[in-house]
Amino acid sequence: MSYRIATIPGDGIGVDVTVEAVAVLDAVLPGLEWTEFDWSCENYLRTGAMMPPDGPARLAGFDAILLGAVGFPGVPDHISLWGLLIPLRRAFGQYVNLRPVQLLPGTESALRGRTAEDLDILIVRENSEGEYSEIGGTHNPGRPDEFVLQESVFTRVGCERIIRYAFDRAAERAGKLCSATKSNGLIHSMPYWDRIFDEVALEYPGVETRHMHVDALAAEIVLHPDRLDVIVGSNLFGDILSDLAAAVTGGLGLAPSGNIDPTRSAPSMFEAVHGSAPDIAGQGIANPVAQILAGAMLLRHLGEEGAAGAVEQAVDEVLGAGEVLTPDLGGTATTAELGAAVADRARRLVSAKSLPA
Ligand code: NAI
Ligand code: MG
Repeated sequence: MSYRIATIPGDGIGVDVTVEAVAVLDAVLPGLEWTEFDWSCENYLRTGAMMPPDGPARLAGFDAILLGAVGFPGVPDHISLWGLLIPLRRAFGQYVNLRPVQLLPGTESALRGRTAEDLDILIVRENSEGEYSEIGGTHNPGRPDEFVLQESVFTRVGCERIIRYAFDRAAERAGKLCSATKSNGLIHSMPYWDRIFDEVALEYPGVETRHMHVDALAAEIVLHPDRLDVIVGSNLFGDILSDLAAAVTGGLGLAPSGNIDPTRSAPSMFEAVHGSAPDIAGQGIANPVAQILAGAMLLRHLGEEGAAGAVEQAVDEVLGAGEVLTPDLGGTATTAELGAAVADRARRLVSAKSLPA
């Protein structure tokens, strides 16, 4: 089986970690055909656009997209995100942002003493509407009565489909789903979200449900991660909770994510949760594991379960051995050294499996 995959390495460490993820995927699955797009802040400074106007059309025919990260000092973050990431998520109907958070072997959680069993959470983030909307504006600019309005959009279709997706994942896992709300503060959008959650819940009598205010839920992730399995949240809440959840495991360098179109009419796009990390860009010390695990999610989405599992197992084994770790994990290895260790391990796992029995 051969697949056509687009890569957009983007900015900063997005470039460093994407090279490693591509090498790991090539190690476990022959026949991946890669096409790279240089859309980035550099491209913006050169051409005035993060990507060309026909960017989505040029990507539409690919089987999947592997994205590094976009954003760099010199270009305001709302320009880089709204010029590339958000339009692609919306053009391709990637309404699910799926963010697994696991404590990996050999990595130490900020919550000392917690084991892999206590910390295995799947965050399902709404990825197409909610608080990230273009509706609003600046009024009376520069005057004493200046004000801005930023509206949120919660549609029935948008809420129902993400909540149903989360229930489906919960039903496959431990059967527990927690909804992030804030109906005490946001008195229109969140009661509506809660109401739709309760309606959809009726279709899943086997799934145990909870509503938690997002602030209390943030505390729960730190204090009792073992009580949580799947979390569903709006665009903003899911975004914030997943950085928090990543931080209480081994940090942002380990957390992957997928922007998924469950209808499969458009390519889905996989990326690390982290951004372009300008503070360490160009130093060769970024942890490539998050992007490599995003690559494993990409393979699983394509139906390549064996190859995806080999990548995940290789990551577990290399981290568990504790010999090749980047500085964020307390080691001294470079991005390329950790990437190569995982690629090497993954290649051996795959060739061991393919030996005749
Ligand atoms: P960030 O995730 O880039 O960095 C936060 C902190 O985590 C930094 O100290 C960084 O060094 C560290 N870190 C992140 N990934 C790491 C890795 N793989 N290995 C080791 N350390 C790592 O978030 P920040 O600083 O808020 O944003 C930087 C830029 O990235 C901004 O322009 C922002 O808009 C953009 N961004 C892009 C995203 C995307 O493309 N999906 C997502 C988040 C931010
Ligand atoms: Mg984020």
